[in-house]
Amino acid sequence: MRFDVITIFPELFPGPLAQGVIGRALQRDLVRVHAHDLREHAEPPHWKVDDEPFGGGAGMVYTPKPLAGAIDAVKAEAALTGPVVFLTPQGERLTHAVAQELAYEEQITLVCGRYEGIDHRIREQMIDREISIGDYVLTGGELPAMVLIETVARLVPEALGDPDSARFDSFVDGLLDHPQYTRPAEFRDWVVPEVLRSGDHARVRAWRRREALRMTAQRRPDLLACLDLDSDEKAFVADCLRGQKSDREDDVPGVD
Ligand code: ADE
Repeated sequence: MRFDVITIFPELFPGPLAQGVIGRALQRDLVRVHAHDLREHAEPPHWKVDDEPFGGGAGMVYTPKPLAGAIDAVKAEAALTGPVVFLTPQGERLTHAVAQELAYEEQITLVCGRYEGIDHRIREQMIDREISIGDYVLTGGELPAMVLIETVARLVPEALGDPDSARFDSFVDGLLDHPQYTRPAEFRDWVVPEVLRSGDHARVRAWRRREALRMTAQRRPDLLACLDLDSDEKAFVADCLRGQKSDREDDVPGVD
């Protein structure tokens, strides 16, 4: 999978993406990140990419010509061209479902804005999709582009060493992840729940499902509306929402 990033700061890439799991995917050529300098499509001698907004107001706006030139150049260079995505707080929210959709693409062009944004004609004519990484405003689209690349690239088959870790991620089944524990079984006086050390896979699965439901009910009740729960689970979630469920193992069916 290939990402082409249009930015006035191409030297920021791959940056943190060169480390860890995505770094290994880059080394193995499973994922490629090409950064393109927007200024190369501006005019000498000043290589200016922005101007004052028509109608007045604070800040500067990216002019259409360099952006159009950069997008055209990426389309001419990349053998396969997928969607052109503009990173903006006005876009649709980047969710796991959006990342999964984008992971099917062979190539994605990411346009990073700065200042007050980009000329609206480019958004109307050349941008396929606008994506926000959350309801807050950053000074530019470069960090959001990295977040998007990381989120999507880790879904590329084989990019993750262990494919199961993506399959069981938070949000994959619409739930937050259940708590995780590792050795030692006892640290200070804090003991790992017995069920996880029982070796009984059915009990472990049931416990994890319950704890994922609990975590979601307590922290992200907004996610519950999209879930298909059986009647036991609905009752359990209702109790969690009323604050009546403690974190005890006896919440797990079949655990006495
Ligand atoms: N550019 C500035 N803020 C942003 C955000 N929250 N998401 C995507 N792009 C942005």
